[in-house]
Amino acid sequence: MAQTIEYVRVDGETITLVFALVEGGVADLVYMGGRLSRNEDMRALALSAARGQHENQPDVPPVPGLLPESKGGWSGTPAIELRQDGQRLNTDFRVEAWSTTANSIEITFADDALDIVVFIIWRIVNGDVIEAECAITNQSTQDYDLARLAALSLPIPRRFTEITSFAGRWSGEMHEERRPVTPEGLTRKSAGGKPGFGGGNWLVLHDGLDGEFLGAHLAWSGDYITTIDCDPTGSADGRAVLQMTTEADAGFGFLPAASSTETPKAVFALAADRSSLAQRFHAYLRTEVLPQRTVWGPRKVHLNSWEALGFDLSQDKLIALAENAAALGIERFVLDDGWFGERRDDRTSLGDWVVSPDIFPNGLTPLIDHVTSLDMDFGLWVEPEMVSPDSDLYRAHPDWCLHIESQERRTMRGQLVLDLSKREVSAHLFDRLDALLSTHRIAYLKWDHNRDLFPTAGKQVWQTVALYGLLDRLRVAHPHVEIESCSSGGGRIDFGIMRFCHRAWPSDNNDPFERLRIMRAWSQFLPLEVLGNHVGPSPNPITGRHTDMDFRGKVAMFGHMGVEADPAAMREAERDVLAAHIALYKGWRGLLHSGNLLRLDHPDPGVLAQMVAGDGAALGLVAQTQFSPEFDAAPLRFNGLDAQARYRVTLPLPWPARAARYLREKRKWRDGFTLSGQALMTQGLALPLTHPETAWLIALETIG
Ligand code: GLA
Repeated sequence: MAQTIEYVRVDGETITLVFALVEGGVADLVYMGGRLSRNEDMRALALSAARGQHENQPDVPPVPGLLPESKGGWSGTPAIELRQDGQRLNTDFRVEAWSTTANSIEITFADDALDIVVFIIWRIVNGDVIEAECAITNQSTQDYDLARLAALSLPIPRRFTEITSFAGRWSGEMHEERRPVTPEGLTRKSAGGKPGFGGGNWLVLHDGLDGEFLGAHLAWSGDYITTIDCDPTGSADGRAVLQMTTEADAGFGFLPAASSTETPKAVFALAADRSSLAQRFHAYLRTEVLPQRTVWGPRKVHLNSWEALGFDLSQDKLIALAENAAALGIERFVLDDGWFGERRDDRTSLGDWVVSPDIFPNGLTPLIDHVTSLDMDFGLWVEPEMVSPDSDLYRAHPDWCLHIESQERRTMRGQLVLDLSKREVSAHLFDRLDALLSTHRIAYLKWDHNRDLFPTAGKQVWQTVALYGLLDRLRVAHPHVEIESCSSGGGRIDFGIMRFCHRAWPSDNNDPFERLRIMRAWSQFLPLEVLGNHVGPSPNPITGRHTDMDFRGKVAMFGHMGVEADPAAMREAERDVLAAHIALYKGWRGLLHSGNLLRLDHPDPGVLAQMVAGDGAALGLVAQTQFSPEFDAAPLRFNGLDAQARYRVTLPLPWPARAARYLREKRKWRDGFTLSGQALMTQGLALPLTHPETAWLIALETIG
C-alpha cells in the first residue's frame, strides 16, 4: 500500500523549512532556505527535488532523513545506536506522529519491537537560528545501553559543496581549513573532555560560489563528534548528512527500563554571507543563551595579574599593580593564579581554595578594599574542577579524582581531575566557592580548566552535566558574579557553557598578530562583548614578538578589552598610548557590544578589517599584518551602510605614528569630512597600510 506523504512547513523571519513526513516511514527535509511565499506548492517543491531510481541502488533507495539508521542499505553513521549485552541492536524507528507550532516541529518516531520512542525537536529562534535536539524514552521493561544519539542529523542541501572547519592548538586556536565536500566526508572529534582549541564543534558549509553559508555548532562543553557522511553506500547519489553529537564512545550510557534522556542542543543557521551568519549567532547568543544579558552593564576594562606577576605574588606587589592599573583607567582588577594554599608554582595546591596566609597575612579583604577604593571591582581566578596530588584536598580524599583503581594516576600540568559526578565532590566545590563569594566582594570569577580529562572511565558526559549543575547553583546563589570560561585559553568555548558565563577567554596568546586572527575566527560565532581581548607585554611571552603599543591597543579594543601586562614595565609614552585606547574603548563599547559585526574584505591577504555598525554610527578596525607589496594599499571599502545616508568620517586618535606620515591632509582626517554610504561602500578610504603593525580605527557617524 502506498504511504501518504505529508508536507509540513515551519517558518522563521527569513527562512522556511519544509519536511516530508510519512506515517510509519521516514521524516525528511525537503527544503531549507530563504522564506517561501505562503502559497508555495509543497508537493511541487518535493517533486522538483526528487530523483528517480538509478542503477546499482537498493530497490527502495534509502532515505537517511532526520534519523539515519543502519537499515535498508544506508551505510553511513547511524544517528542512534542501542546495545544490549554488548550487542548492537538493529533499530527500526518509524514516524509515529508530529506536531508543529508557528516556529517549531516535534516528530515522534517509534521502534515497536524495542518499545522505544525518539523525539526530534527543531525550533527556529531569535536570529533565525535553528535549535535541534533529540530525546529518547525507553518505554519497555528492558534495560538498554545507549551508545549514540545525535542531537542533529541534517540532510545537507546539495548546493553546499564546501566545508570550513577549524583546527588549532594551545595558543594557536581556531585555524580555518576549507575543503570541498568529497566522498570521504568529514569526521572531527575531541577527546580531552572539552571541545578543545580546534573549535571542532563549529562548522561552516558554503556553496562553492560563496553565495550562501550554513553555520552549525554543538552547544556542549564536553567531547563532541561531528560527521559528514557523503555517499556512504558508494552509489554516488551525492547525498550528504551532517551529524553532531556528544562523543560516541562514552555515549549516554545506561538507558534503563522506563527512563528517558536527551541530547544537548545543536544549533545551525543560514546566511547570505559570513557577516550575516555571525550576526545570526550573535543575536541568538545575546537573546537566548547568555545569562541575564538584559541587565549587563558596560563590559569593564580588566587588568589581569597573570602576565604581569605570574606566581610572584605579594600583597604589596598586587597593591602597586592595582594602583598602576587604576591610573590607566582600568575598571576591574583580576587576581589570577597563585593566591591560595601553597600555590607558588603550577605543581601544587589546586583544590585548596583557601587564601594563602603567606601572601595575604590578613586575608584577601585588604587587597579587595584597596582595589575598590581605586574605583575598580575585584575578580579572582579559580580552577575548581582540578586537584593537585600535593594538596590537602587530595590527601583527605584521594578517591575524589577521576581514576581507574589499578592504574597509575598520570598528571598533566601536575594536576588531576576531580570526579564531579560524585555528589560529594560537587557539593564540596559549591561550598568552597560559595564561602569565597559570600565572604568577599568578588565581582568576577575567571574559571579555568587546564588539563584533559583522563582516564574518564566513561564519565565525560556526566562530568559536563555535573559542571553545568555546579555553575547553575553558583549563578543562582550569586547572580551578580560574572564568570569567564577559560580553558588554557580557548579550550572550552561553546554555547553550552555560555549559558552560565559572561565572557570567554579566546586564547592565552595576546600577541596582536595572532590575536587578530583568533578573534576573527571566534567572532564568527560569538559577539565581541563576550570575547576577552587583552593588551599583553612586549616582547610577547608566547611568541617572543615585539609589538608597538598603538597596534596592541587598537587590536584589543575589538572585544572585551583588558590589559595583561605590568604598566610599571612600560615606558611612559606607552602607558599614555594604552590609556588613550582604554578611553576610546569606553567611548565606543556601547556600539561595539550591541551592534552588528561586519567582516570587511581587502585584496591584500595581510590586511584584516572589520567594523561594528549600530544606531547611526559605526567603528571600523583595519590592520596590516605584513609588509604590503604596494606602496599605496587598496582602499578599505565598507559594508552594510545605508547607501543614501551621509557619514562624518574621522580617524580617532591616537594614530600609528609611522603610517600617519603618509596621510594627506591630516587635519581633515582628524576633524572629519562627509561621504555618502554609497561612496564608502564603493570607493572606500585610501588609508596608509604599507607597514606591518599598522592599525587604524575609522569612525563613521551619520549626519542629520
Ligand atoms: C591558564 C590560563 C592563563 C592563566 C594560567 C594560570 O593557562 O589560560 O590565562 O590563568 O592558567 O595558571
